[in-house]
Amino acid sequence: MSERLFIFDTTLRDGEQVPGCQLNTVEKIQVARQLEALGVDVIEAGFPVSSPGDFNSVVEISKAVTWPTICALTRAVEKDIDVAAEALKYAKRKRIHTGIGTSDSHIKYKFNSTREEIIERAVAAVKYARRYVDDVEFYAEDAGRTDNEYLARVVEAVIKAGATVVNIPDTTGYCLPAEYGAKIKYLMEHVDGIDRAIISTHCHNDLGMATANTMSGVLNGARQVEVTINGIGERAGNTSLEEIAMIVKCHNDIDIQTNINTQKIYPTSRMVSSLMNMPVQPNKAIVGRNAFAHSSGIHQDGVLKNVQTYEIIDPKDVGIDDNAIVLTARSGRAALKHRLSVLGVDLSQEKLDKVYEEFLKLADKKKEINDDDVLVLAGADRTENHHIKLEYLQVTSGVGVRSVASLGLNIAGEKFEAAASGNGPVDAAIKALKKIINRQMVLKEFTIQAISKGSDDVGKVHMQVEYDGHVYYGFGANTDIVAASVEAYIDCINKFKH
Ligand code: KIV
Ligand code: ZN
Repeated sequence: MSERLFIFDTTLRDGEQVPGCQLNTVEKIQVARQLEALGVDVIEAGFPVSSPGDFNSVVEISKAVTWPTICALTRAVEKDIDVAAEALKYAKRKRIHTGIGTSDSHIKYKFNSTREEIIERAVAAVKYARRYVDDVEFYAEDAGRTDNEYLARVVEAVIKAGATVVNIPDTTGYCLPAEYGAKIKYLMEHVDGIDRAIISTHCHNDLGMATANTMSGVLNGARQVEVTINGIGERAGNTSLEEIAMIVKCHNDIDIQTNINTQKIYPTSRMVSSLMNMPVQPNKAIVGRNAFAHSSGIHQDGVLKNVQTYEIIDPKDVGIDDNAIVLTARSGRAALKHRLSVLGVDLSQEKLDKVYEEFLKLADKKKEINDDDVLVLAGADRTENHHIKLEYLQVTSGVGVRSVASLGLNIAGEKFEAAASGNGPVDAAIKALKKIINRQMVLKEFTIQAISKGSDDVGKVHMQVEYDGHVYYGFGANTDIVAASVEAYIDCINKFKH
């Protein structure tokens, strides 16, 4: 019987730290339920002391999910641990994840402390957390740059204090795979009592080595991996769940198995990408748009003769079904409901009716409705409570003429109109918008997501607008790319604190 590798998903904690990717509690519950269906063992649901929103999300996810362990992050601080324990009150299986920096630079610059004092604080935190829960994970932040001999002393001390899992984060993504694997091996060989705890990997992708480092850790004895869907996370992100799950599945030479239902990988990836408004790079392993697209003549010829010539994964194994029913204007509610549930979205009848109405409007504009469209439609009511709404937009543009836009806004029930010209349709529309919303706003970033299929596709726009010293993130989706741009700008404005 193969050994079990535990999957610890931190999409909702480390993954959600990406600027502009924050989810509300309802969206987090949706992701958590999908992670449960995917078969993850642990869901890191948040850092409860960091904000009331995070606290509430941990509470609600604890209520919504049954099988996975729900984990809450803390610093090695009693107050954090008290708050985490309170947030985990409803979890059927619960874990507190506490820890402290162990590298010399963290000890000196972050804590102005000493190695001995850090061990004392680590031990005290684990003991304190054990007063609340039986399952305590300890993280040695910046373990990747921590001297192995000292790290072994820390790990030994926290296991003695009651840690059930010990996390060895490569916080800065600095380690080489051989170096990270050797670190895990060193701990397996030098820590007394190591068999009483599970060693966990937590790798960041700053140098593009997160997956390689994680696998190197696993091959040297780690039995838990900390991962995120689509590899999202701060900076270059974390190790991606789908890569580890598929490496383990494809490599029969590695005698290890996970509990992941791999056919749920693609729907989960789409859901997270759509809810977080975070596009997946087209060549991303396993879930990228081109991951299974063979374009060179030689490859196409080989694949037609026998798929195994160039394909190591059957796309169906990760939930990509090319024969999936195509949705069109003639599709009924049942087909839409089925597609949504394949994508992990379960809607109430009332919400389904609303989404279906929008679906029909979109289907009038474009021939085929794809999964991305369906997810955008399901999340469309994110703008329902917006204070400022776009009422209409009219733009005239062309070659050799200046673009002119007129637009109407509804601001808390009152109607406003303006017109402006610009050097292109988006410029004209945003200038008209700024005549109504007269504030010192600066557009910092403007990304139009590639339209993948056909000129009638829905264009998606991500924007960052700076106002009053803060940067706000907005999203818009529309078959009209100028309208999507204005919607994204308005989405930013709706988030202004005053
Ligand atoms: O990268 C890291 O070190 C972390 C810890 C807080 C677990 O995310
Ligand atoms: Zn991290």
